[in-house]
Amino acid sequence: MIRAIVYESNTGFTKKYAELLSAQTGLPCYSLSENKVNGGDSIIYLGWLCAGKIKGYAKASKNFNIRAVAGVGLRGQDAEALSQLIEQNNTGATPAFYLQGGVDIQRLRGLNKIILKAAVKAMAGKDGNPESKDTLYSYKDYVSPDNLRGLLSWYKSAV
Ligand SMILES: Cc1cc2nc3c(=O)[nH]c(=O)nc-3n(C[C@H](O)[C@H](O)[C@H](O)COP(=O)(O)O)c2cc1C
Repeated sequence: MIRAIVYESNTGFTKKYAELLSAQTGLPCYSLSENKVNGGDSIIYLGWLCAGKIKGYAKASKNFNIRAVAGVGLRGQDAEALSQLIEQNNTGATPAFYLQGGVDIQRLRGLNKIILKAAVKAMAGKDGNPESKDTLYSYKDYVSPDNLRGLLSWYKSAV
């Protein structure tokens, strides 16, 4: 039985997805640092993507039985984003999902802010990339219940 949704969020977009999923499934949601879930419990894990890695996933994998995992990033929500997530995080047989989050430069600090600015600058001029340099100084929120459809239909089939 899946007990909870556990997440790690830096600027709030992953938290929003965790709360939306919580409302849709009735499962409680907690941040990883809250330590509210018993070791070994079955959970759904959501983490923000940092240089391809799902933050907190390695730690959560040691503590919990992760039934499904989702990474929240800035790039568009498509098949390529998902296949990279699977490859870079060794999700193995665990059902994995990619969710498009957003950017909030105001809430980023230190090295994370410098890295994100450099990454957006590098992505900006590329063909077909919807992001432009003005993203650097703006706030973009792509979180939507629609983006959770895949994860939700997995959940319904799993319980
Ligand atoms: C240092 C850094 C590295 C990032 N690396 C990636 C990445 O590899 N892929 C991606 O899609 N988004 C990347 N992002 C964007 C974040 O994953 C995105 O803003 C996400 O919505 C943040 O979620 P949060 O608000 O829960 O922290 C990166 C952001 C930062 C600050």
